[in-house]
Amino acid sequence: MTPPVPRPGILDIQPYVGGGHEADGAERVVVLSANETPLGPSPESVRAYAALSTALHRYPDGDCAALREAIAIRFGLSAARIVCGSGSDELIALLIKSYAGPGDEVLHSRHGFLMYPISARACGATPVAAPEANYTVDVDAMLSCVSARTRMVFVANPNNPTGSYISTDELHRLRDGLPDEVLLVIDSAYAEYVSRNDYSAGAGMVEAGDNVVMTRTFSKIFGLAALRLGWAYCPPAVADVLNRVRGPFNVTAPAQTAGIAALGDLAHVERARAHNDVWLPWLAEQVTALGLVAHPSVGNFLLVRFADADAAAAAYAALLKDGFIARAMGGYGLPECLRITIGLEDEMRGLVASLARHLGADRDRS
Ligand SMILES: Cc1ncc(COP(=O)(O)O)c(C=O)c1O
Repeated sequence: MTPPVPRPGILDIQPYVGGGHEADGAERVVVLSANETPLGPSPESVRAYAALSTALHRYPDGDCAALREAIAIRFGLSAARIVCGSGSDELIALLIKSYAGPGDEVLHSRHGFLMYPISARACGATPVAAPEANYTVDVDAMLSCVSARTRMVFVANPNNPTGSYISTDELHRLRDGLPDEVLLVIDSAYAEYVSRNDYSAGAGMVEAGDNVVMTRTFSKIFGLAALRLGWAYCPPAVADVLNRVRGPFNVTAPAQTAGIAALGDLAHVERARAHNDVWLPWLAEQVTALGLVAHPSVGNFLLVRFADADAAAAAYAALLKDGFIARAMGGYGLPECLRITIGLEDEMRGLVASLARHLGADRDRS
């Protein structure tokens, strides 16, 4: 019997390995591996979610009309240009499915978010990784990788896992250097954490033309990762395309109602941002004092570089033993690094103490 054969490219996919959530034997488990907010969801979201529990037999609003309206009001955007999805992962996949296929190239930066190459391969397209400069998107290198087969360019801004970002001017320079028919996708999953004058999430660039899309998520600062909720801000023609290819009920009703409530709780988001503004620089300072390299980050996570891959693996294991789950970076081609999400104060202090113990013990041995 001949077994069914998947389309070319599918078996080249290295399945995405998410951040771990378990540390066997540890008294207390601190998950710092998935860039989730340590403050949890807004109590307003929890209430809205719970209130829906007796209406689970009803299909959700397939248009996400109220949610799109709430997003539009909150961010000063046009609701008609918003398409919601089951996490921004789904929107990334739908965009690639719609605009690239076999023979086409999807460009991303060397240490860009892994779902770009994965989703490209799933559609039979070829992912192309452009070199970075100092773990940051290099616009010139990106442009030099554009070929006649390039259909889409993805920039995570800020980028996961490096934490780096490029300025609005650099984003414009990238757009201006790309052929008009190439779609630029600006993935601004961590936009709410950034407070830099030269940064913008990309909505203005979307509105200025017909070849830029911005994706956003409720998984990070809004604390709704479990519900899978993201949105794309699109030129009208791209929104039309996404609305044709998406499932008719691709966003659940609990996700919609919790998302609307989250948008209304400005204080909760402000608390998360203020917390990050304190503990991100604190963690960077502490790991630097331990002799490690902290890559400058504007997200809610820090990429920490060790002497080599073995040192990073040993630190990962030592942290895990103490219950701290960091994110190993081998899948991103950065085996000498760990990515650490900003947690609560005692979690950050505990993590640094654990790391210091490990590195101290290491030093004593050598
Ligand atoms: C840069 C970036 N884009 C998109 C996503 C996907 O987020 P979502 O939970 O909305 O699918 C992530 C998640 O970690 C991310 O880091």
